[in-house]
Amino acid sequence: MIDIPHIVAHRGASIEAPENTIAAFRVAGARGAKWIECDVTLSADDKCVLIHDDTLERTTNGTGPIHHSDFDALRNLDAGGWFSDIYKGERIPSLKDTLETLYFMDMGANLEIKPSGCDPVRLCEEVIKELRISKTVPPILISSFDDTAVAHMRKHMPDLPCGWLLETLPKNWKAEYARLGASAIHIDHKALTPVSAAEIVDAGVPLVCYTINDVERAKELFSWGVTSVITDDPAKLLMAFPRRPFAAHR
Ligand code: G3P
Ligand code: MG
Repeated sequence: MIDIPHIVAHRGASIEAPENTIAAFRVAGARGAKWIECDVTLSADDKCVLIHDDTLERTTNGTGPIHHSDFDALRNLDAGGWFSDIYKGERIPSLKDTLETLYFMDMGANLEIKPSGCDPVRLCEEVIKELRISKTVPPILISSFDDTAVAHMRKHMPDLPCGWLLETLPKNWKAEYARLGASAIHIDHKALTPVSAAEIVDAGVPLVCYTINDVERAKELFSWGVTSVITDDPAKLLMAFPRRPFAAHR
């Protein structure tokens, strides 16, 4: 079973630096985070790039859908100036650069496959290609809201752990979890109750929650047996919980 750290930096330390950039991953590492979460999608010419939205407006100085721009055009955009002048000139990272950076920082990643607007299978194929050719692959936990992506990754990279990413917990979650062959459940913390958390934890399933920036809420979730919380503010949560505060599994 993969050892998921109790605190994972959401899109990097995204409260302090522009999300899904190398700068945000470096700040997360500097604050003591062992892992970051990041979102990977495809450029028009099928290169893996890190960005959350399916359009460029919010986090870059570009416009339009990501999947309409080639890699070179995306790399010329400013992905930091929207956040603060200090980060002006920060680039949209490639998956390759991200893997390398994390590897040399001795960090790991929850790599979320985000096919918004592109073909999930095509995206998975490119991620797999990148992971296979890279000589600097850090510990990786894949996750996706897209069941096709989860199934594809499980089939073609069965040794790579893959989380089932959910907004709410379906009634028949156990059967679906087994069918997908997933290694963890990643769920919006607002959808979790002490009862549903106990059900997951008692089944021995690692439970990852997003996105928690409040120390008291994180404490409550850990007391329910949650394995890991994904946060925009790893500095704050690591200050409150330098180590896992409760046993991960009962
Ligand atoms: O992977 C957890 C979380 O990142 C999922 O939601 O929209 O922030 O990618 P989102
Ligand atoms: Mg994400």
